[in-house]
Amino acid sequence: MNLGVALALYGLRTLVIDLDPQGNASTALGVDHTVGTPSIYDALVGDSTLTEVVHPTTASPHLLCVPATIDLAGAEIELVSVVAREHRLRRAIEGYIAALPPEKRPHYVLIDCPPSLGLLTLNALVAGDEVLIPIQCEYYALEGLGQLLNNIDLVRQHLNPGISVRTILLTMYDGRTKLADQVADEVRNHFGDVVLDAVIPRNVRVSEAPGYGQSVLTYDPGSRGSTSYVEAARELAHRGLDLPPVDRSGTPAAATAFAVADAPAAGTQDGQ
Ligand SMILES: Nc1ncnc2c1ncn2[C@@H]1O[C@H](COP(=O)(O)OP(=O)(O)OP(=O)(O)O)[C@@H](O)[C@H]1O
Ligand SMILES: [Mg+2]
Repeated sequence: MNLGVALALYGLRTLVIDLDPQGNASTALGVDHTVGTPSIYDALVGDSTLTEVVHPTTASPHLLCVPATIDLAGAEIELVSVVAREHRLRRAIEGYIAALPPEKRPHYVLIDCPPSLGLLTLNALVAGDEVLIPIQCEYYALEGLGQLLNNIDLVRQHLNPGISVRTILLTMYDGRTKLADQVADEVRNHFGDVVLDAVIPRNVRVSEAPGYGQSVLTYDPGSRGSTSYVEAARELAHRGLDLPPVDRSGTPAAATAFAVADAPAAGTQDGQ
């Protein structure tokens, strides 16, 4: 969500889809997500189009958000009996983009995944062109990673041949600990160029911001948390420049949809 705000502040039209029943991304973007608010649940399980559930944000006119209400917790089960259950989100996004004139289409669609690997995350991995994994510079983050990568492989084989991990963002980096450096080194050795140069430090402003319904970029623009997210978004946007298909007027023919997946923590079913 901080990346979404940073991309929007660059002038890139960005849509954040909150796919986590906890609704943390909605909270941080100041978007109402009390029960009854038109939300991603209505598009996934109900008959709403994405257009009907998109909300503006206070962070930037370029940033729109589809919030998640607690109803979404039931969607894991309700989706089981729905036709084309793994493809609901992809179709909703495709329909949304197709209905917009080119100059209004988002440059980026960011889908915030729940921490478990159920039907909601599967929908995100089928809808996405790329996976972005924020990895906390802590030991447990690496243990959950293998499981997540296996699942992405399975989705590639069976449901979405185009999906791959294109971006890894190191977060919660604490320069005072050896462990943080070890984790960062290990991730860089293993994943190479996929890892962004920018690293998000452990910064109290990042954790305070959601309490004010804000991203860290609007809450404290000068903080290290904020400047490092701006740096990460700049790298992401520069990578996007190389991605086909981009028409010459500078408007991408299609948006790049990222599934932002949490690596579940080791030893638990749902990563909590
Ligand atoms: N760089 C940071 N510095 C300090 N605190 C942070 C930082 N990044 C995240 N946090 C804290 O950790 C909390 C969880 O962060 P975040 O929502 O990114 O985790 P998550 O892995 O997506 O959680 P979940 O698995 O529940 O979806 C934030 O609300 C914030 O308090
Ligand atoms: Mg999350």
